[in-house]
Amino acid sequence: MNRPISARPSVSIKAVDKIWTPEGRTPVEALRGLEFDVAPGEFVVLLGPSGCGKSTLLYMIAGLEGVSGGSIVCDGLPVTEPSAERGLIFQEASLFPWLTIADNVAFGLSIQGVLPVRRREIAIEMLKRVGLGDMLDKKPDELSGGMRQRAACARALAMKPKVLMMDEPFAALDVQTRSRMQDFLLQIWRDSGASILLVTHSIDEAIALADRVVVFTARPGRVKTIVPIDLPRPRPTRDPRYHEYRDMFTELLAAEVDRAFAEQEAA
Ligand SMILES: Nc1ncnc2c1ncn2[C@@H]1O[C@H](COP(=O)(O)OP(=O)(O)O)[C@@H](O)[C@H]1O
Ligand SMILES: [Mg+2]
Repeated sequence: MNRPISARPSVSIKAVDKIWTPEGRTPVEALRGLEFDVAPGEFVVLLGPSGCGKSTLLYMIAGLEGVSGGSIVCDGLPVTEPSAERGLIFQEASLFPWLTIADNVAFGLSIQGVLPVRRREIAIEMLKRVGLGDMLDKKPDELSGGMRQRAACARALAMKPKVLMMDEPFAALDVQTRSRMQDFLLQIWRDSGASILLVTHSIDEAIALADRVVVFTARPGRVKTIVPIDLPRPRPTRDPRYHEYRDMFTELLAAEVDRAFAEQEAA
């Protein structure tokens, strides 16, 4: 990566705490003193044991949940509410089943006040970009899981987000589809210039995709370490360095998963 050091971060997470206080239950400290930046156009992968607050962090960056302490600043402005500049994609594509995929993609634009003809044009353009140009008038349940996730990407990208957040987007897909979706994602990432924050459980997915991997500790989630992946893309899986990264992440995660288990047993 070769970008000026002075570039304003696209996301800046500053000493962020999050305590969930569900009614009638004991509060849960999900995140503690979390701190890192995402540079414009950077691809950051979040890796950590389940329950360490990764989804919680994405909700807060998306503006769907407030922080309990610290702040999240996107492009110089504190996050206080959702914005079209910050898109979020979940594991199960959350498309409206009663709309065609073209109408699904156009839907978000109608909220932004884009006129109907232009909406349709943008929807077609985005669906072509994700390889679904001949599926415009299909309903989501007529598509495969991988196609639905591509349609969800098209819908998010139509809004021209500066930050695209993806919460285990490929976890439900089979191995072959998953690997093709990773290639596809790298391509649309380059085209869009957006920053991406992607949560995964998969060490190989993290190495395949990331500029930097943020490894979380067990709950309360903190930054355990941040590892830049210093390999060309596509990642050379036979390179000894690839396997060094793999071993390192396996060890880092195992330690945290053990801690998470120990804590659960104690509770
Ligand atoms: N809406 C919620 N209300 C109460 N607790 C929650 C809520 N969402 C998540 N949590 C708790 O916060 C912790 C972190 O959850 P989450 O962010 O989903 O972790 P991850 O995505 O890393 O698996 C967990 O202990 C979870 O039970
Ligand atoms: Mg999660």
